[in-house]
Amino acid sequence: MTLDAYRITTEPYYRPLGDEIALFDAAYATRMPMMLKGPTGCGKTRFVEHMAWRLKQPLITVACHEDMTASDLVGRWLLDADGTTWHDGPLATAVRAGAICYLDEIVEARQDTTVVIHPLTDDRRILPLEKRGELIPAHPDFQLVISYNPGYQSVIKDLKESTKQRFAAIDFRYPAPDVEAEIVGREARIAAEIAMTLVAIAERSRHLKGHGLDEGASTRMLVNAARLMGRGIPLSQACDAALVVPLTDDAQLREALRDAVLACAA
Ligand SMILES: Nc1ncnc2c1ncn2[C@@H]1O[C@H](COP(=O)(O)OP(=O)(O)O)[C@@H](O)[C@H]1O
Ligand SMILES: [Mg+2]
Repeated sequence: MTLDAYRITTEPYYRPLGDEIALFDAAYATRMPMMLKGPTGCGKTRFVEHMAWRLKQPLITVACHEDMTASDLVGRWLLDADGTTWHDGPLATAVRAGAICYLDEIVEARQDTTVVIHPLTDDRRILPLEKRGELIPAHPDFQLVISYNPGYQSVIKDLKESTKQRFAAIDFRYPAPDVEAEIVGREARIAAEIAMTLVAIAERSRHLKGHGLDEGASTRMLVNAARLMGRGIPLSQACDAALVVPLTDDAQLREALRDAVLACAA
């Protein structure tokens, strides 16, 4: 099977925040399973895309969700004209052919689904396909990477301790203001001052976290606002569409966010 469709051929822009590139390089060298922790929209997916490009490895991404079953990851028998044929799932494909498999938002998946990764993430490095009676030894290039947002953690929705402990982790957070402005400016091709204003708005929104807001505005949201502005939408309207309205339905919180936009725009 060819994984050409999963190869990243042009460099995904990633602005390092610390020594995470060197750390991931070292982890990949020993095929250590990695966990990327941090709030939504802070660069985890972009980082793994950048690393896959750097390491010249195909990247197979799975967005995890509640209804996902082990079969969605490992594969299933499907009925077709010739009878039943086995179809590898995305995890089995990555294990067999050698790729980085990125399970995005792993806590969304049920715990009975996540346990399929256990034999892959210890010294065995195998994936059992129970329904097919096959054990796939992981290709030497295979690596498992997961993302995890600690903010959404709850007792019913958390990784099992025995799953967590298989991974080395990198903490991601929103970048320092000047770095975040650099990222927003570069991603949306807008002037540095506008980017700085957007970052100031985000900072204020992040102070509202815990005061009714689950998360403040993410880097992703700032990039969206900046892109709207690049198309001629004024700041207040761009911020409304890209961050205020998506973040909350609460009238008072929206007002507080709009005040933050006004204060920073002045
Ligand atoms: N360090 C970074 N370097 C480059 N772009 C970044 C960085 N951090 C965030 N971004 C921007 O923010 C967006 C959202 O980041 P993403 O990686 O999708 O977040 P998540 O942590 O939710 O996976 C990216 O598409 C990119 O535009
Ligand atoms: Mg992501």
